[in-house]
Amino acid sequence: MHDTVLGVLVSGRGSNLQAIIDAIEQNRISAKIGVVISDNPEAAALQRVQKYNIPTVCIERKKFADKQAFEQAIICELQRYNAELIVLAGFMRILSSYFIHSFAGKIMNIHPALLPAFPGLNAQQQAIEYGAKLSGCTVHFVDEGMDTGPIILQQAVPVYSEDTVDTLAQRILRQEHIIYPQAIQLYIEGRLHIKGRKVIILPEYKGDK
Ligand code: GRF
Repeated sequence: MHDTVLGVLVSGRGSNLQAIIDAIEQNRISAKIGVVISDNPEAAALQRVQKYNIPTVCIERKKFADKQAFEQAIICELQRYNAELIVLAGFMRILSSYFIHSFAGKIMNIHPALLPAFPGLNAQQQAIEYGAKLSGCTVHFVDEGMDTGPIILQQAVPVYSEDTVDTLAQRILRQEHIIYPQAIQLYIEGRLHIKGRKVIILPEYKGDK
């Protein structure tokens, strides 16, 4: 069986990208990263991948007349590298239905809250300000809404009264780095079955008896 080809979209730090690279190197994910695409030339994520011999492409929104042309350029690169699963790893742009339909059911995102609580930006701050006692992270398939797609995996963490946005974000991030590779591997094993809003996780295939 060939390794599934991932196309990873980033805008910033790239710690989830790093967790995915580490999981691939440790054989916890049977995939290879075909290409990393950033909309931000300054993204630290681009520096991280240099030593791994992974192709990177920078596609800036401002270089295109409209959003569709920008997204078309991203789609073109993803197709050029034969990406089979699109992994959003801190990609800070909302994708249009045009993009989403180009890879229907094949785009994943990670969000630093327990969806449907605290969607959108600054999820950790939202959780603290709301006074939530639990928050966490969610890996979900991407649909047209803002962090509304079918949920694949979630992991909760406590929120302490003395937490700052940074301390909570770090606690959540440690869990992000665990569940994102797990969700990707479940997808690769063909174990994620989308049924309406629900993602059914099929049991592990143990081989013919
Ligand atoms: C993470 O908190 C992720 O949940 C959110 O954006 C952040 C990206 O961090 N979608 P990094 O670039 O992976 O370090």
